[in-house]
Amino acid sequence: MAAVEPILGIDLGTTFSTAALVVDGKFHYALDGRGDSCIPSVVYFPRTGPVLVGHDAERMRATDPVNTIVGIKRVIARPLDSPAARVLDAASVFKLKGAGAGEVSVVTSSGEYTASQVASFIVRYLKERAEARMGRPVKKCFMTVPVAAGPEVREAMLRIGRMAGLEVLRILSEPVAGALARGLAGAGASEAPSMVYDFGGGTLDTTVVQRQGARVSVRSAGGDDCLGGNDFDLSFARHVASVLWGQASVDVTKDVLLFDRIQRQCELVKRALSGAKEARFLVPDALGTAGQRRNLDVIVKREHMVTPWKELVDRSMTVAAETIVAANVRPKELASVMLIGGTTFVPMVREAVARTLGVPLDIEADPQTAVARGAALLAVMPQMLLD
Ligand SMILES: Nc1ncnc2c1ncn2[C@@H]1O[C@H](COP(=O)(O)OP(=O)(O)OP(=O)(O)O)[C@@H](O)[C@H]1O
Ligand SMILES: [Mg+2]
Repeated sequence: MAAVEPILGIDLGTTFSTAALVVDGKFHYALDGRGDSCIPSVVYFPRTGPVLVGHDAERMRATDPVNTIVGIKRVIARPLDSPAARVLDAASVFKLKGAGAGEVSVVTSSGEYTASQVASFIVRYLKERAEARMGRPVKKCFMTVPVAAGPEVREAMLRIGRMAGLEVLRILSEPVAGALARGLAGAGASEAPSMVYDFGGGTLDTTVVQRQGARVSVRSAGGDDCLGGNDFDLSFARHVASVLWGQASVDVTKDVLLFDRIQRQCELVKRALSGAKEARFLVPDALGTAGQRRNLDVIVKREHMVTPWKELVDRSMTVAAETIVAANVRPKELASVMLIGGTTFVPMVREAVARTLGVPLDIEADPQTAVARGAALLAVMPQMLLD
């Protein structure tokens, strides 16, 4: 009997991308050289030599930020004057320009690349890493998109897959994939509606999903495509900047590279604060003048982050509550709230969901790969119907 052709489930994320496939009933991931399944959605375009993707590209960000592209998902199939493109342009050191109707491109020292081309480097990398893992070619995939993605984004995903050497067999929405990974389609799973609360790096997606027999449907969907972990980092960095301004009259936001270094430290410290009540915040040579550089070195506690993050957490809860109303259910009718996406590691977020919705939380040990796993699962469950 011919071996079943593997189908890669791909979650192209704003900050991290993941890909999984099911072979012989087991999940396998596209792993990078260090064994990580969360591949930074970062692409580095050197003047000469091969394009780098993932952690290898991420490492170049400090020294060559102009040619290191991050956050490209936000602008796929979006024109230069779209809010998403404006936000990315304002927040990044690299340059965006219009590339015809409905597309932007990035300008690098090795040339211009459309958003779809940049994304295709990430998808190709995932494909190659999956092939290396499985020891065989992978030619087909299921791709996921945010629930709010319109036809132009779906079209772009087909193109991105093709450019990466993959045939995109199906496109499904991220929350449905996440719910499948959480067992929504499994034997004995509840047929009551559930919420998928997916808080990622760049977007929040809140969705009420429901299974009825073999059919999984979206009862309502809400979200904010400009709200994610990146905003936690930015608001943390602004808090650091305002403390430094208050204590030493230093405006670190004026130095783009320094403020970028501070934001990256904020991301790391944010993660550390998910596992511990306090963490050391260290940015070498951040303060002072040439010849007299001092480190920025302080201890940050979880409680320090309550004020800077409150507005972001509150906004996410408003979106979740609106999504539940739109589904025409009461929170207590929900079987569970499935927490996926890396930002659901933040204790303040988990506490707010539990407190505000009062529904059992279904917490993932590995919330960042749930969407890719769900897409991979669907590939081996052709009987499931989605609408
Ligand atoms: N332990 C942690 N504590 C807090 N935040 C974390 C942790 N681990 C990852 N994150 C954050 O999770 C975010 C990435 O999550 P995820 O990989 O789900 O997003 P994404 O899929 O790239 O984004 P999107 O779904 O918005 O396109 C980043 O902002 C990262 O800093
Ligand atoms: Mg995601």
